Amino acid sequence: MDKSVIDINFFATAAEDLKRYYGLAKHQAWDVQELSWGKIAPVPEGHGSEAKRERRQAMWRSVVTQQLQADELAAQVSLQLLMTVGDYEARLYYSTMAQDEARHYEAWLRLAKESGGACEPDPYLDKLGKLTMSADTLEEKVWLLQVAYEGLVIPRFHQIATAAPGTILAEICNKLSVDDGIHHGAGVVYERLLLSRATNKTKRGIVLLTKEMWPLFVQHLSWRPRERAWATELMHDHDREMVRSHTAEVLRLGSEFDLDLDLST
Ligand SMILES: [Fe+2]
Ligand SMILES: [Fe+2]
Repeated sequence: MDKSVIDINFFATAAEDLKRYYGLAKHQAWDVQELSWGKIAPVPEGHGSEAKRERRQAMWRSVVTQQLQADELAAQVSLQLLMTVGDYEARLYYSTMAQDEARHYEAWLRLAKESGGACEPDPYLDKLGKLTMSADTLEEKVWLLQVAYEGLVIPRFHQIATAAPGTILAEICNKLSVDDGIHHGAGVVYERLLLSRATNKTKRGIVLLTKEMWPLFVQHLSWRPRERAWATELMHDHDREMVRSHTAEVLRLGSEFDLDLDLST
């Protein structure tokens, strides 16, 4: 078959897929008001001595603060994407994603307030935010935000929800795992379409940016706020295993797009 016919077919399939994700996002849209505010605990209350309860509280506050930071980044980058994409179906889709991310930010903001206020921000997440927002190309932004970060965060939402049953935190994580499943799926489809039209220089740009991003991401994975720094030594093996599994997952995602990534740190 003629290459231009293949390209047209490929574009039509990607456009259909994006329209499907747009419909799914509209169907799944929810309101922060629907959460059980005031009826259940915001985060697990814990038991034992006061000092022990305070330590647990500090841990949950840092979980909430990191998610607030992550959705601040997602809200800003999804708006950049909405304003940059040219394809009609992609623009429709990003209009829903920008709304989702603003809603996620709203939910974390309220939960941070309910659980005693945000704590020390993760400096590596801040750096990852700046790197992503200032990425040169659309292909780089979709790859980082939707394919890599959102692909990695979904299992994390399941873990948090399991560790915090019967709380607002678990309710938010369950909602976000569905929303980010849609964002990740749409990102994979759109990145494939973008890369089918991209030059080798653009693809090389993604590989170089990922090489710059990865050491920051690894630092982010094992970062703890000052009051939790004591746990770092205890969690050493756990952190190392988390870095190993995340590295394997990003390499797998990269290979789906024929990206020869270098994740050495
Ligand atoms: Fe989000
Ligand atoms: Fe998202």
